[in-house]
Amino acid sequence: MRKILITGALGQIGSELTMELRNIYGKANVVASSRRVKEGHGELMESGVFEIVDVADGKRLSEVVRKHNIDTIIHLAAILSAVGEEKPALAWNVNMNGLYNVLEVAREEGCAVFTPSSIAAFGDSTPKNNTPQDTIQRPNTIYGVTKVAGELLCDYYYHKFGVDTRGVRLPGLISYKTLPGGGTTDYAVHIYYDALKHKSYTSFIDRGTKMDMMYMPDALNAIVQLLEADPNKLIHRNAFNITSMSFEPEEIAASIRKEIPEFEMRYEVDPIRQAIADSWPNSLDDTAAREEWGWSPKYDLDSMTRDMLEKLTEKLGL
Ligand code: NAD
Ligand code: SER
Repeated sequence: MRKILITGALGQIGSELTMELRNIYGKANVVASSRRVKEGHGELMESGVFEIVDVADGKRLSEVVRKHNIDTIIHLAAILSAVGEEKPALAWNVNMNGLYNVLEVAREEGCAVFTPSSIAAFGDSTPKNNTPQDTIQRPNTIYGVTKVAGELLCDYYYHKFGVDTRGVRLPGLISYKTLPGGGTTDYAVHIYYDALKHKSYTSFIDRGTKMDMMYMPDALNAIVQLLEADPNKLIHRNAFNITSMSFEPEEIAASIRKEIPEFEMRYEVDPIRQAIADSWPNSLDDTAAREEWGWSPKYDLDSMTRDMLEKLTEKLGL
């Protein structure tokens, strides 16, 4: 049985992945960690071990890995795209030095490492449609720069030191448990909250801006599936394109209108997040993930919308 440490466990992905992994591998085998305790995570904190770990502190990371005999690190602690543009030095420190510390501990202690890359690893010069697995990667955000460097660093630790590194390039994730942590795709989460509360939403991303997206249950499945994939079948490792759907704001609004006909969409475009979105692909080609480890998403836009609205109605007590 694996003994897993999750960094950044109280974020959008970690708060759900921790519970999923505790169901699969057992509560005693999944240690959650974060830089600090946050409100609203009682279930996660009470359902297993929790440690305070700032990933910029390699010594503390190493202590926790040794203390719990960890053999797999799922590294989620990061600064996302929009916050990264506001605080580039912080993004570099957390995303690069944090990953370096994780890989060093993994090398010393013989751990496997899973860490997500992003659609942000692509830039203006990348082919926009059906973006290939192997293509030009020259992003123009600090977040994207750290994601490309991170992919390369993970490959380096695999080839040089034999560390079992694996990753996916996640699209924008949509979920109802924990709000996203300051990215460009966050509009596609906020829209559901406002649709239910106000029957309208003001989008900071403009009409016609397509981005890849995915519902959280599919992302959790992808992470577990790649973690357990037969290494002999993996040609790529860091990191696989994966996607479930690609839409622009008018399309998600139309999907919501099928459930809430009076829903209205307005636009107040944020130039910083719009420029980031414009530099990312319209749609990814995820053939390599499908062929090498059987990736196959379950949700499309309309089935995600129905589930999001149902779960959020319950969560918000509406
Ligand atoms: P998030 O911002 O919701 O969570 C990240 C967590 O890391 C936060 O709880 C934050 O407090 C914590 N953190 C920040 N600095 C830290 C530090 N120094 N030490 C320890 N913890 C620290 O992000 P997320 O959406 O859960 O993303 C997890 C990973 O997935 C990131 O690598 C992100 O780039 C990637 N990703 C996410 C998405 C998405 O749409 N959510 C898309 C593509 C890639
Ligand atoms: N959802 C993330 C962001 O917008 C993509 O990596 O930053």
